[in-house]
Amino acid sequence: MRIAIGSDHGGFNLKTAVGERLAALGHQVEDMGVFSTDSSDYPFQAAAVAQAVAQGRAERGVLVCGSGIGMCMTANRFPGVRAALAPTIEHARLGRAHNNANVLCLGERLTPADQALAILDVFLATDFDGGRHQRRIEEIDQVAGTER
Ligand code: RB5
Repeated sequence: MRIAIGSDHGGFNLKTAVGERLAALGHQVEDMGVFSTDSSDYPFQAAAVAQAVAQGRAERGVLVCGSGIGMCMTANRFPGVRAALAPTIEHARLGRAHNNANVLCLGERLTPADQALAILDVFLATDFDGGRHQRRIEEIDQVAGTER
């Protein structure tokens, strides 16, 4: 899969580990930065990854900041993006199966790296269930006025 990744300074170390994991699994990784732990503002990397997903240049995205929250808030402003903050494996599984999440958000300061990589694996391996869940994700765009 083509997967775009990004972080701020608070997520740089985990984002690096995520990129290495994705490459080891054979995915095509596009790293939107940042590339150091120097202080940075998360909305810019969130936007770069969200736009790549929204425009179809990436099939999935992974965003990491300190908590994952700011990344998730920003990414979900982009039509076509369904970003899920997943602090547990079950969040990742349900985010895919029920919500067809296409962006995974992780918090480096709150989720240990080994757990985060296990969450990533489940996010990648879980298919969308479709059916009634398809109607519901369409309703997200309807109520928000972001239908395309
Ligand atoms: C940076 O200190 C921190 O606020 C950021 O990484 C993120 O957690 C925001 O949601």
